[in-house]
Amino acid sequence: EERDRIARELHDGIIQSLYAVGLNLEAAWEQLEEDPSETRERIAFSMEKLNEAIRDIRQYITNLRSPIDENRTLQEALAALAAEFRAGFGVAVTVEARGETATRVRPDVLNHLKQITRESLTNAVRHGRASRIRIVVDVSGERVELTVQDDGTGFQMSEAMPLTGNGLRNMRQRAQLLGGELEVTSAPGRGTRVWVAVPRDMAGGSSRA
Ligand SMILES: Nc1ncnc2c1ncn2[C@@H]1O[C@H](COP(=O)(O)OP(=O)(O)OP(=O)(O)O)[C@@H](O)[C@H]1O
Ligand SMILES: [Mg+2]
Repeated sequence: EERDRIARELHDGIIQSLYAVGLNLEAAWEQLEEDPSETRERIAFSMEKLNEAIRDIRQYITNLRSPIDENRTLQEALAALAAEFRAGFGVAVTVEARGETATRVRPDVLNHLKQITRESLTNAVRHGRASRIRIVVDVSGERVELTVQDDGTGFQMSEAMPLTGNGLRNMRQRAQLLGGELEVTSAPGRGTRVWVAVPRDMAGGSSRA
C-alpha cells in the first residue's frame, strides 16, 4: 500500500513535470532557427519546471524520512545515528544490541531514546573529544535499557551539571516523560557514561503491535 502510494506520487507529480520539460525542450529544438523568442520562452519554462521538480523531490524525501523512523527498530535507528557520527566526526561508534531488539518500541520511546543518544554522542565528541563510543541497547520484557559510554576526557560532575547547557537536562526530562530514569556517570580522565532505562510501554500506552 505504501509502495503504491510512492509509485503514484512519483508518477503523477515528478514524472509529469519531467515529461513536460522533455516536450518543451524538443519543441524548442525544432523552433531554434525560425522562432528564437518562442525558443527562449520554452527553455525558460523548462527551467522553471525543472526547479519545480527538484523542489517536489526534496519535499518528497523529507516527508518520506520522518515517518520511516516509526517503522524502524530501535537498533536500526541507533545504527543510523552511529553511522552519521562515524561519517561526520571520524569517531568509532559501535552499537551492541541485546534482547528482543528486532521488536519495535513505541514511536515516542524510539524518538526520545534517539534524541538522548544523539545528545550523548554530541557531548562525547564536542566536550570529551572521545575517539571511541559504545552504545549498548537492551530490550527485554517491559524495559528498554540504553548505555552510551565514551572514552573521552570525562568531567567533574558536581561542577558541570548545574551550570551549563540544556543537553543533560533535556535528556533527563525525556527519560522522565517516558516514566524512566537516567544516570550520568563521569570523572576527569575516565570517560562518560549515560545510562537510561525506560518502560517499553508505559501504563496507558496503547501499543500492542
Ligand atoms: N561526554 C562528555 N564528555 C565530557 N564532558 C561532558 C560530556 N557530557 C557532558 N559534559 C560536560 O557537561 C556539561 C553539560 O553538558 P550539556 O549537554 O548539559 O550542555 P552543553 O553540551 O554544554 O550545552 P548544550 O547541550 O546545551 O549544547 C558540558 O558543558 C561538559 O562540560
Ligand atoms: Mg550538550
